Amino acid sequence: MLDLPHRPRRNRKSAAVRGLVRETRLSPENFIYPLFLSGNAQDEDIASMPGCKRWSTAGLLEEIGRAVTVGVKAVVLFPRIPDALKTRDAAEAFNPEGLVPETIRAIKAAHPDVAVITDVALDPYNSDGHDGLVSYDGHILNDETVAVLCRQALAHAAAGADIVSPSDMMDGRVAAIREALDDEGYSGVSILSYTAKYASACYGPFRGALDSAPRAGDKKTYQMDPANVREAIRETIQDETEGADMVMVKPAGMYLDVIRAVRETTALPVAAYQVSGEYLMIKSAAAAGWLDEKKIILESLTAIRRAGADMILTYFAPQAAAWLREES
Ligand code: PBG
Repeated sequence: MLDLPHRPRRNRKSAAVRGLVRETRLSPENFIYPLFLSGNAQDEDIASMPGCKRWSTAGLLEEIGRAVTVGVKAVVLFPRIPDALKTRDAAEAFNPEGLVPETIRAIKAAHPDVAVITDVALDPYNSDGHDGLVSYDGHILNDETVAVLCRQALAHAAAGADIVSPSDMMDGRVAAIREALDDEGYSGVSILSYTAKYASACYGPFRGALDSAPRAGDKKTYQMDPANVREAIRETIQDETEGADMVMVKPAGMYLDVIRAVRETTALPVAAYQVSGEYLMIKSAAAAGWLDEKKIILESLTAIRRAGADMILTYFAPQAAAWLREES
């Protein structure tokens, strides 16, 4: 026999003991469910994201009801805006009767306890497909964009949004949105900032779902370089100073070190977004029979929590929540 003072396997000897020593827990309460909406009469399949739908308003309310049944209590909304409403000034983004404000009101009427989070960025509304306004010579205009984002956030707050979530990566938008909300009496509306959002190849399927890909150029002058992590710390400090209530890292699974760095930089809650490309990599491997779908989904979400995320935006939210319920 080996003379071993430590036998770590003793702490793994049964499910009961493993449960006692488990360091990270995954719960439906950690999930935020991203939902696509069209305002059309029928729910539509999304070619670039099999298993996800662009919901009609009625379909969306039913889907939220199903998610609530398995314990998911937070949603984030992404609208598909008809081409006819897309303009260079993205004015539809702050239409108080637009698709997002109307949908917020419908959700609040049907599911008052669900936390409604909205995306604040111009790409679904902008004929250029960028998150910001584009100048005639092709630059993304920072300060002019921030003024529009403030109006967009106010339209969402007025409709009843609990949390507004700027995903545009313009400088200074958290402070400006905070001030705009406070000035108009919405001091109770929270800001979940996309603090470290990378210029990632993982967003392609999402842009297909919303028809929101940039018409020209890429997003590298505002989204972060995938090579950088110190820059995420700098963004975190800045967003906290500007008044963010929660910070986000995006994507999640390939950026676990960034989640950890952000976690160690701030005491604010940290979110991570398991984005469309991550969803599809898992879905397609599972559909081919190459990976066990349930195991890989729960492992991927556990890893994101272990890295330091309090909450996870994931298209798997209702499915993962249902599995977690069966197991508990
Ligand atoms: C746009 C936005 C994007 C996503 C969320 N908000 C796309 C982009 O930045 O190009 C991507 C989410 C996903 O891929 O699941 N403001």
